[in-house]
Amino acid sequence: MERLQKVIAQSGFSSRRKAEEYIKQGKVKVNGKIVTELGTKVNSSDEIEIDNKILEKEAKEYYLLNKPRGVITSTNDEKGRKTVLDYINTNARIYPVGRLDYDTTGALLLTNDGEFANIIMHPKNNIDKLYLAKLEGIITGEAIHKLEKGIEVDNEVFHTSRVKAKKINKENNTSLVEITIHEGHNHQVKKMFEAVGFPVEKLTRKRIGIFTIDNLKSGEYRKLTPKEVQIVYSLKEKQKKN
Ligand code: URA
Repeated sequence: MERLQKVIAQSGFSSRRKAEEYIKQGKVKVNGKIVTELGTKVNSSDEIEIDNKILEKEAKEYYLLNKPRGVITSTNDEKGRKTVLDYINTNARIYPVGRLDYDTTGALLLTNDGEFANIIMHPKNNIDKLYLAKLEGIITGEAIHKLEKGIEVDNEVFHTSRVKAKKINKENNTSLVEITIHEGHNHQVKKMFEAVGFPVEKLTRKRIGIFTIDNLKSGEYRKLTPKEVQIVYSLKEKQKKN
């Protein structure tokens, strides 16, 4: 179930703000009845009419982008900086699933399917987000242990599912460490390493669930296959049954 104004906006009919105006003006019907309540929730089988015309729903689109450094994960930027949408050739109203920092590179999914985005983002679905971090300093077993136990940051406990040292460079005093998380707190990986005394110099997301950037160069993207979309939906189905 999604909010009516969001569904209208996602169909490409208008912005969300304009959709709210149409609703308040009594121009929107759901299953033949006028709806003026802004919070009204609808599902994909509900018929929506605006000014007595049936709303055509936008076809769902799904992309995997290898996000370059120096690009913001947003649908627009007030300062005119490059956004991840500048890389995808589509007219659909897609948006990024979660966030990568301006200076973080790697796997980013984009879609106009809110349900798909929720499945990927919700920690309860245990979808791996695997990062490779270049750290200042030589990582210790003790720091890895602390991270794996869960660590308090900003009065909240941040969890990891796995932390693995991949390479130590004594000459440069840096470490390459893989970290897998299921949550999506703001700057989570950077904050966690910072909390154990190892600031992040570079960060790349290598994988989200089944989606890796192995065959995509920086700035390249591909469409997901119907089978891949189905696999993501099946994770939600499993959830329901348990
Ligand atoms: N954690 C971070 O600190 N930054 C990102 O971009 C993603 C996860």
